[in-house]
Amino acid sequence: MTGNQAVSRDGFSTKFGVIAAAAGSAVGLGNIWRFPYVAGENGGGAFLLVYLGFILTIGVSVMLAEFVIGRRSQSNALGAFKKLAPKSAWWLVGLMGIIAAFVILAFYTTIAGWTLEYLVQATQNGFTGKSSEQISSMFDSFQHSTFRPIIWQLVFMGLTAGVILGGVQKGIEKYTKMLMPMLIILILFMCVRSVTLDGAKDGLSFLFKPDFSKINGNVILEALGQAFFSMSIGMGAIITYGSYVKKDNLLPKTSFQVAMADTLIAILAGVMIFPAVFAFGVQPDAGTGLVFQVLPNIFQQMPGGYVFGLIFFLLLTVAALTSTISLLEVVVAWAIEELGMKRRKATILFAVAIAFLGVLATLSFSELSEFKIFGKTIFDNLDWMSANLLLPLGGVFIVIFLGWIMGPKIIADEVTNQGQVKMTFLKLFIFIIRYLAPIAILLVFLNGVGVFGSN
Ligand code: TRP
Repeated sequence: MTGNQAVSRDGFSTKFGVIAAAAGSAVGLGNIWRFPYVAGENGGGAFLLVYLGFILTIGVSVMLAEFVIGRRSQSNALGAFKKLAPKSAWWLVGLMGIIAAFVILAFYTTIAGWTLEYLVQATQNGFTGKSSEQISSMFDSFQHSTFRPIIWQLVFMGLTAGVILGGVQKGIEKYTKMLMPMLIILILFMCVRSVTLDGAKDGLSFLFKPDFSKINGNVILEALGQAFFSMSIGMGAIITYGSYVKKDNLLPKTSFQVAMADTLIAILAGVMIFPAVFAFGVQPDAGTGLVFQVLPNIFQQMPGGYVFGLIFFLLLTVAALTSTISLLEVVVAWAIEELGMKRRKATILFAVAIAFLGVLATLSFSELSEFKIFGKTIFDNLDWMSANLLLPLGGVFIVIFLGWIMGPKIIADEVTNQGQVKMTFLKLFIFIIRYLAPIAILLVFLNGVGVFGSN
C-alpha cells in the first residue's frame, strides 16, 4: 500500500512498478505468438507498416486515455464509467470490457497451455535431433490430442488465479521487473541465430519489404486489431491498472514507454521467427501453430540450444502470465468493487467460469475442429472477435467518453498532473482523442468487415 494514495486501495509502489506492470500486461503471447502468425497471414511487410502506424497514433492515445480514466476514477473498468458519468448508460462500455476479458482469457490460456507443454518438452530435450518435419508433426499430434492441452490450460489458469489471489502489488509488480529485460536479451540471441541461417534473407524481406498489393480492408483491420490486442487496450485493463497509479506519475511518458517496449518485442519476435520460417520451409501463413513449429528448429541449430530453449519457454510462460493476470484482474476488481465479493471468492469463481469457455477453445483443435460458426472454429471466433471487434469498439467508446464526456479540461488536468508538468503533444492528443481516433477506428472496422464493398 502506498502512503500518499488518497483512497485506501492497493497500488503500485514505484514508477517502474507501473511501467513494469503495464508492459507486463502488454508483452505476452500477443507479441511472440500472435504478431508473427497474423503478420504471416497478412502479407508481412505491408502489415507491419500499417501496424506501426496504428500503434504510434491510435494505440498510444488509447492507452493514455485509459490511464487517465483509471487514475481519475480510482475504479475498476466498469466502476470508472459509473463514477465519472453517473446515471448514464456508459457503464455498458465497462461491461463490454469485462466480457472481452472473459473471451480473451478463454483462448489465451489455450496458447499459454501450449507454452507449458513446450516448456516441459524443452526440459526433456524433446526437440533434439528432430527434423523440421518431425517438429511440425510433434506439434500436430500434441494439438490434436484431447486431454493434454486441456490439462495445461487448466494449470495455467490456476497459476493466474494464484497470483491474483495475492493482490495487485505483491502479485504483479514483483514478477515483471526482472524478467522482461531478460526476455529481450534472450530474444536478441535468438534473432542473431535466426538471421544467420541459410535462407534467412527471404524471411527478412518478407517482414521488412512491404508489398503494398497485399493491403486490403481486411489486412488493415487485422493490423488495428493486433495493435489493440498487443497493447492490452480497448477493454479496461489499463483503466484498472491506471486506478492503481500514483498522482505524480507522468502518464504520457508511461504510455509511450510501454508502447515502445511492446513494439520492440513484437518486431524482434518477427526478426526471430521469419528468417527461420523460410530457412526451415514452413509456410508463413501457417496460422496459430506458426511459432510452435518454427522455434524448436532455432534451438536445435544453436550452441547451447537446450538451455536457450528451456529459458525461452520459461520466460514466455512468465510473459503470458503477466498478461493473463491483467485480464483476470479486470474481472476480479470489478467483482470486488461492484458486486461486493471477497477477492478470494471472486478469483476462484471467475477463473472456473472462464475455464469452461477456455476448454471449448482448446477443443477447437481436436474434438471440435469441425464445429464451425461463420466458417471458423470456436477458437478462431474468440480470437477474431476480441481483437477485431470488441477491442476496437471498446476503444471507440473509450476515446469518445474521454474526449467528449470528460472533455479537454479534465484531460489537460490529468496528463499534466494538475498543471505541474507540461505535455508537449497535448493539443495533438486531444485532437486524436476527440476526432481522429473514433473516426479512424470506425472506418477501419466498417471497411474491414466489408460494409463499403468487398475487399
Ligand atoms: N497484450 C497481451 C499480449 O500481447 C494480451 C492482453 C493482456 C490483452 N491484457 C489484455 C489484450 C487486455 C487485450 C486487452 O499478449
